[in-house]
Amino acid sequence: MGRQVVLITGAGQRLGAATARRLMNQGCHVLLHVRSSIVQAEAVVASSEKEGGSGEVLVADLTVDSDVERLVQDVICHPLVVEHGLFGLVHNASFYSPSSFEETPLETFRLLSRLHMEAPYALTQGCLGALRRAGGSVVGLVDTSWGRSWDGLGHYTATKAGLRQLMLNLAGELAPHVRVNCVAPGAIMAADWEAEHFADVVEKVPLKRSGKAEDIAAAIHHLLEHNVLSGHVLHVDGGWSMVE
Ligand SMILES: NC(=O)c1ccc[n+]([C@@H]2O[C@H](COP(=O)([O-])OP(=O)(O)OC[C@H]3O[C@@H](n4cnc5c(N)ncnc54)[C@H](OP(=O)(O)O)[C@@H]3O)[C@@H](O)[C@H]2O)c1
Repeated sequence: MGRQVVLITGAGQRLGAATARRLMNQGCHVLLHVRSSIVQAEAVVASSEKEGGSGEVLVADLTVDSDVERLVQDVICHPLVVEHGLFGLVHNASFYSPSSFEETPLETFRLLSRLHMEAPYALTQGCLGALRRAGGSVVGLVDTSWGRSWDGLGHYTATKAGLRQLMLNLAGELAPHVRVNCVAPGAIMAADWEAEHFADVVEKVPLKRSGKAEDIAAAIHHLLEHNVLSGHVLHVDGGWSMVE
């Protein structure tokens, strides 16, 4: 088997960084995409290199078409990708902040549509040849909001639903050469604005505990490695989606 190269979007911090760390430790060459967390991502790579891992940082604002196009070119022209193809593409970048429907401007919805749907669409399309060459797979990070109403988060949940459906559609359309799956985290790592009431959220989770970033990294790794799973949404949420 050739060298496994994986692109993770939004990989400078939090769940994306944990996933990058795990995959580098497992011998993958990880392309850590960031928008602003360059220093943090470089530190993730540097620390992994001490353990024999390898990776590098690519910068792009995924709400800007020309940046997305440049990112695609950076990935598909990367010497390791030219040689081995792209083993994994993880659509992780996101923005999660509540505001009531009445007060959320259309522009916010458009930006999230670009981030959660258009950029994954364009990146998957642009990297398709490389994914096929490696017999690779795609993982989309969705969440537990599917089919439910979440106050002040319509712009987030609707665009995550779009990503989920795009991924499931592609699981059928890109088979048999490329597998496509989703990971749906539950209460894993509080955003700054929800830190105070995160304990109340976790109280609603059947297992009564939040997961860790490493649990999401393990789920993503599992889906990338598994040879038969495709069109699957893996809930990593302590059973939350079962009861809400
Ligand atoms: N945390 C949880 O408990 C939880 C729960 C459910 C679902 N999820 C999903 O799991 C994934 C990871 O969660 P997270 O909390 O680690 O994510 P996050 O911190 O909200 O976002 C990850 C990264 O997305 C990048 N990003 C934001 N806007 C961008 C833009 N315009 N262009 C390019 N990159 C942009 C940021 O990169 P820079 O820092 O480089 O700017 C950020 O570090 C997300 O898709 C999230 O929706 C998480």
